[in-house]
Amino acid sequence: MAILVTGGAGFIGSHTCVELLNAGFDVVVLDNLSNASEKSLERVKELTGKTVKFYRADILDRDALNNIFDKEDIESVINFAGLKAVGESVRKPWEYYENNIAGTLTLVDVMRQHNCKNIIFSSSATVYGDPVEIPITEKCPKGVCTNPYGWTKSMLEQILTDIQKADNEWNVVLLRYFNPIGAHPSGKMGENPNGIPNNLMPYITQVAVGKLDHLTIFGDDYDTPDGTGVRDYIHVVDLAKGHVKALSKLKPGTGLSIYNLGTGVGYSVLDIVKNFEKANDIKIKYEIGPRRAGDVAACYSDATKAKEELGWEAEFGILEMCRDSWNWQKNNPNGYDD
Ligand code: NAD
Ligand code: UFG
Repeated sequence: MAILVTGGAGFIGSHTCVELLNAGFDVVVLDNLSNASEKSLERVKELTGKTVKFYRADILDRDALNNIFDKEDIESVINFAGLKAVGESVRKPWEYYENNIAGTLTLVDVMRQHNCKNIIFSSSATVYGDPVEIPITEKCPKGVCTNPYGWTKSMLEQILTDIQKADNEWNVVLLRYFNPIGAHPSGKMGENPNGIPNNLMPYITQVAVGKLDHLTIFGDDYDTPDGTGVRDYIHVVDLAKGHVKALSKLKPGTGLSIYNLGTGVGYSVLDIVKNFEKANDIKIKYEIGPRRAGDVAACYSDATKAKEELGWEAEFGILEMCRDSWNWQKNNPNGYDD
């Protein structure tokens, strides 16, 4: 029996493959490589001494999915495959709804035809919109998303919830990630963004390596301790381990489970800059700019439910997240192209 990891060559997927293999699972990866390099899977092998079976395929491609499910003995699916750039989703909403929603609908249909009804879905804290309570528990109502990417997550949560409600043979785990950063401590795997990064940590590491001149901090007039935006940053290896723990909820009769995966601690943009400088002994040039449209002031989790029910909690602290992000960037200034 194997775990099918869609989007398994990507940032979170590749780290999850390492943790799954280390925990003794057989792993099949499906990825269309639209935002990843197959080299990440070579690194998975280097780190674990084990191989994953790789299919270069698209979750929209029903024939390719049927072929995989016919050939492989898939017990559960972890569905990372999706487009994730917030700004691009505003410019290309059709592409985001098609890829993320139609893709997952196709995947789920092929799964049920092969009687595989166990799925973990990559959701996001973005579904809380501007959260009505902080720290955010899973009981916090979902909010209004500010971009099509966020809506794909929110809608797919609803779709999977309804599918599970209609057929209780399904076991569905919705994992709402907060802000994944860091990289494998070996320096061999990490985030490989295309073009100029949108997210804070890859932007900082590209300033540190000299590819970008300075960081622009998006607003210092929020209602937060230092005026800059507060987020719950989580080390990608901790996040990956959360998926291994979540597999325990894919047992007959478990039904629907929802977990926040965060540390429960909020750091401001300036906190991140200072911790990055301290961890790596590098100065980061920054200036304060206007707020970015769609950003909320503060977003961090109450991580209690995952601790109590999955026995999972984040272990890496902010200095380690900053150290590992930099270690990856400085050893691989061009990502997997080096
Ligand atoms: P990523 O882009 O590195 O990984 C996604 C992978 O899916 C890529 O390897 C890409 O090639 C693949 N892919 C995309 N569309 C596909 C398709 N139609 N068929 C097959 N493969 C396809 O992103 P990531 O950061 O590893 O994110 C993984 C998942 O977690 C995504 O669904 C993302 O939306 C979600 N998520 C990410 C974050 C974050 O900040 N990184 C936060 C919350 C949720
Ligand atoms: N920021 C800057 N300058 C930058 C980039 C970011 O000041 O150049 C600030 C933002 O304003 C925000 C914080 O840094 O206050 C974090 O921003 P990111 O873009 O790194 O992350 P977001 O919280 O905006 O969003 C991320 C993912 C979303 C996901 C969300 C919740 O990009 O996909 O976390 O999981 F939905």
